[in-house]
Amino acid sequence: MKVGIVGCGAIGSEVAKAASAMDGIEAVWLFDIDPDAAAHLRHLPRAHVAKTAGELVAKADLVIEAANKGVVQTVIRDALAAGKKTMLMTIGALADDALREELVGLAKKTGGKMYLPSGAVMGVDGVKAAAEADLKSVTLVTTKPPAGLDKKTDRWTLLFSGPAREAVQKFPKNVNVAATLSLAGLGFDQTHVQVAIDPLATRNSHKVIIEGGFGRARIEVENLPSPTNPATSYLASLSAIALLRRIVSPIEIGA
Ligand SMILES: NC(=O)c1ccc[n+]([C@@H]2O[C@H](COP(=O)([O-])OP(=O)(O)OC[C@H]3O[C@@H](n4cnc5c(N)ncnc54)[C@H](O)[C@@H]3O)[C@@H](O)[C@H]2O)c1
Repeated sequence: MKVGIVGCGAIGSEVAKAASAMDGIEAVWLFDIDPDAAAHLRHLPRAHVAKTAGELVAKADLVIEAANKGVVQTVIRDALAAGKKTMLMTIGALADDALREELVGLAKKTGGKMYLPSGAVMGVDGVKAAAEADLKSVTLVTTKPPAGLDKKTDRWTLLFSGPAREAVQKFPKNVNVAATLSLAGLGFDQTHVQVAIDPLATRNSHKVIIEGGFGRARIEVENLPSPTNPATSYLASLSAIALLRRIVSPIEIGA
């Protein structure tokens, strides 16, 4: 498989390094609007720098977005229109109902596909399995150190409690995780989100509480930042790499 990565920042660079060493991947095409960001990965085995996003879409079988919503609206749309496989990191872009429906419609029409990695949260496999029968509730509790949400306080404080649709508007830094869980389970209106700040917290944590016909589950992750972008959890890059390995591997594990 030939892979194209649009956006060579924290996530794109880590995915590029892993992809260039992965069995089943014959080429890794790279594009970034900052030419230096792509050029510093040029030395990787099987890596090629594309001159434009259009060249990358033409060359790749799977187009990975690791940039922003604008790239989802343009490059991912073009890739799906061409019937390509795609992988999105800016999953918050799909909280926009009109954009999501348009991209899903394109994929249906052309045979393209959108892969959405679990990103910075754990438990997405459980939410998906639970959604097959009588999923009753999905709650995401995100806790950050106050500085992570540009706040100052010496007390644990609940900043928000409400539906994911409102959370993604009020907390853009939290949008990807809330969107991923919503899409995996009950949608943006039925997924409940709480956002808290804790002066004793040293890491961003996401707790997912699921109830349904299967029983009840609680999954919590305390994330470390990516080595190259403190705003991005390292787990997000790892989940994209794991999903890529799953796509090219002869064996699939997990829901
Ligand atoms: N799904 C998740 O859980 C999750 C977790 C963390 C981050 N993310 C999202 O993943 C995306 C990438 O995160 P990151 O930490 O790697 O960001 P980053 O800022 O480190 O890198 C983004 C790169 O995209 C490039 N870029 C911007 N516009 C571009 C364009 N039009 N064409 C090509 N390249 C372009 C930038 O130059 C930069 O190199 C962000 O949208 C972020 O919100 C998702």
